[in-house]
Amino acid sequence: MQKVENLDETTLLQSTCYRLPFIVNSDCLSFLNSLQNDLIDLTVTSPPYNLGAKHHTGNNVFEAYDEYIDDMPEVEYQEQQIKVLNEIYRATKQGGSLMYNHKNRIKNGKQITPYEWLLKTDWTLKQEVVWFNGSQNFDKCRFYPMTERIYWLSKGTDTNFVNAINQHDLIKDSAEGTDKEHKRAFPVKLAQRLIMCFPDAELIFDPYMGSGTTAIAAIKEKRKVIGCELSEKYTKISNDRIKNELSAPTLF
Ligand SMILES: C[S@@+](CC[C@H](N)C(=O)[O-])C[C@H]1O[C@@H](n2cnc3c(N)ncnc32)[C@H](O)[C@@H]1O
Repeated sequence: MQKVENLDETTLLQSTCYRLPFIVNSDCLSFLNSLQNDLIDLTVTSPPYNLGAKHHTGNNVFEAYDEYIDDMPEVEYQEQQIKVLNEIYRATKQGGSLMYNHKNRIKNGKQITPYEWLLKTDWTLKQEVVWFNGSQNFDKCRFYPMTERIYWLSKGTDTNFVNAINQHDLIKDSAEGTDKEHKRAFPVKLAQRLIMCFPDAELIFDPYMGSGTTAIAAIKEKRKVIGCELSEKYTKISNDRIKNELSAPTLF
């Protein structure tokens, strides 16, 4: 795990890291504690969903993550999410936004909605977007769950959002990652679309960077990006992906 120095705007502007995207191998609360107030323009993230150490989708049984065991008592999980979300809020500029990917889960036979903790945070809820990702859960005991959510949360009600991509509130994109090194990656084009709607957002953040999808999307959209990831293995995957993306020849 890397030691996180205090990151204020001056430090970031002077460091080469700020110009080159970098992912720190750190717990997100420690990383967030190192950030000054009012620094981030936009966060795009997907936390672990607390699905259990193993969970199944259709006939496929998934191990959760490399280092993180995605299995906390639900009350503790929700309290932890509130802490992380409020720390992101503190480090976000007034008018900044957070695009938070999560989903309705079924536990012990009843549905848990992310609203149970989102409405207890400092954020203003701007909009709920449905992401139809066609996941393969065909349990006969309920309607097949095929969607996740992206909650658009803002710091204050005035934001610099522009629907530059004429997108309605149902996004259809296949989930990525099942056969790759990170099983819960979201698609780059999804993150890219979200970033495109914030043309003034210079600094993008992801506290749960996983395989680096948000960073790749931010680079493609010519933004600066910072982030952290608990697993050393995923941090390396992210940073390798970033290096490849930065060295890829551009057509124009
Ligand atoms: C849903 S995945 C994110 C996937 C990512 N959006 C992508 O496209 O690759 C959640 C990630 O959070 C990481 N994680 C879990 N707890 C963490 C913590 N406390 N701090 C930082 N990262 C954490 C897990 O290792 C996992 O890679």
